[in-house]
Amino acid sequence: MSTADKLERLRVLREEARQGGGARRLEQQHARGKLSARERLDLLLDEDSFTELDAFVTHRASEFGLEDELYLGDGVVSGSGKIDGRLVFVYSQDFTVFGGSLSEAHAEKICKVMDLALENGAPVIGLSDSGGARIQEGVASLGGYAEIFLRNTLASGVVPQISLIMGPCAGGAVYSPAITDFVVMVDGTSYMFVTGPNVVKPVTHEEIDLEGLGGARIHNETSGVAQFLAPGEPQALDLARRLIGYLPQNNIDAAPRRSEWSEPTLAGTALDALVPDSPKQSYDMHAAIGGIVDADSFTEVHAGFARNIICGLARVEGRSVGIVAQQPEVLAGVLDIDASDKAARFVRTCDCFNIPIITLVDVPGFLPGVDQEHRGIIRHGAKLLYAYCEATVPKVTVITRKAYGGAYDVMSSKHVRGDMNYAWPTAEIAVMGVEGAVNIIFREQIAAAADPAAERVRLVAEYEERFANPYVAASRGYVDEVIMPSETRSRIAGALGMLEHKRQAVPPKKHGNIPL
Ligand code: HXC
Repeated sequence: MSTADKLERLRVLREEARQGGGARRLEQQHARGKLSARERLDLLLDEDSFTELDAFVTHRASEFGLEDELYLGDGVVSGSGKIDGRLVFVYSQDFTVFGGSLSEAHAEKICKVMDLALENGAPVIGLSDSGGARIQEGVASLGGYAEIFLRNTLASGVVPQISLIMGPCAGGAVYSPAITDFVVMVDGTSYMFVTGPNVVKPVTHEEIDLEGLGGARIHNETSGVAQFLAPGEPQALDLARRLIGYLPQNNIDAAPRRSEWSEPTLAGTALDALVPDSPKQSYDMHAAIGGIVDADSFTEVHAGFARNIICGLARVEGRSVGIVAQQPEVLAGVLDIDASDKAARFVRTCDCFNIPIITLVDVPGFLPGVDQEHRGIIRHGAKLLYAYCEATVPKVTVITRKAYGGAYDVMSSKHVRGDMNYAWPTAEIAVMGVEGAVNIIFREQIAAAADPAAERVRLVAEYEERFANPYVAASRGYVDEVIMPSETRSRIAGALGMLEHKRQAVPPKKHGNIPL
């Protein structure tokens, strides 16, 4: 064979690999409203930055006539590329080849990029579109999944891992995304479940379709499995690019800082009028966030799940930050099981990737009730407490209004190593709400009064004056400074600068034992 023929052979093989499962199956993929594995990578990565690996890998199975059905690449496109000039490793499952199902060889390709990512300290972005374990390969496929789960776990907290669910993700396959830092699902075309509708029906007699069992909305709003809901594939891919922009390459690097930024969309002075006169009235904490962070820098995480707490990534004067904030508009911002789980996970995500945490506190306490107690609010609330206690990144806290009871301690208080703790003049820091406190400690005095109602009003006013303010905490140094709401952004930006080189240790240990 001449040299020219040999070069031509490579061109032909490359083209064959690009075809995946062939034109007919690609058409079917498009007809389902889905992009191909390669089209997705084109949108995800900087132009012409993708370097493919293992394009000629094929499966080694010979059962069920598979030896005659070989596709170059074996159902997954993998390699490295750039996002805004920064290195990332990627794999993108190709549904046109055996439904993107995972063979031993397919798993080896994924493991190779994960190993490279870990060795080179760069994020991994995995695009799932797969019918699960390649049924014809049996246990070899199961072993392949386990190899991936192991790497997901070893890479956790070392390099960022983002999962984009672009189609089916079924069976044990769900546990790889579940271990990663962020799961993005596409509305209407992606679904995740451990057992599908056909298995559910004979076991539990429940009739449900794919969407109802494990569609993008279910996992974003009910189960909390996914953190992001994208209206379409391009938006999901864009979101992954955006997320990478907040994250360091690995746990040794500092989180990125942009040299340019825009002032917040909401003027700081608007915050001076944000908190209503009545403690029973709500307000939108998104407005406070809008008055603090750089314009258009906020990306909410888990926006549809446990909406009584807001978590999100943002920037303050170009610095990546994580925001954790109560939302008084939903359940009065109370801490319940889901809110505790959501925020605990987010605090740990920020901590492992060196992203400072800004906590905006307006919390009436933990949610009372038989349901919450029986389902373990103690165990779940403890996760958030634990997460804040162990976090060593810069922690800046602003109490906007209520900080009651145990929830005061939990929400990045001074006592759990909050670095800078601010309070607005509207802050009420106390063991419990005014009405409840007066009812308990002055019960006999109220009952014995000539006019119990008037006595109660008087005692409420007195208690409010003495305790429902930030000054008792400030007098003890639990609050570093009482600030005007309009000063919040400048104080936070100053604190982040001051804390830039913060070093804080936890006692040496194998790992802690967070109450999972
Ligand atoms: C081999 C598979 C496959 C699989 C799909 N295909 N899933 N091949 N192994 N797991 C093939 C189909 O034969 C078909 O091939 C092509 O992919 C497209 O599949 P369709 O069924 O035509 O597509 P669609 O109607 O869109 O349905 C998609 C689907 C369905 C819902 C994903 O294919 C399905 O239910 N697949 C099986 C899902 C499953 O039970 N997987 C195992 C889970 S257990 P042709 O040649 O016709 O194009 C598991 C254990 C992992 O994963 C444990 C790890 C710990």
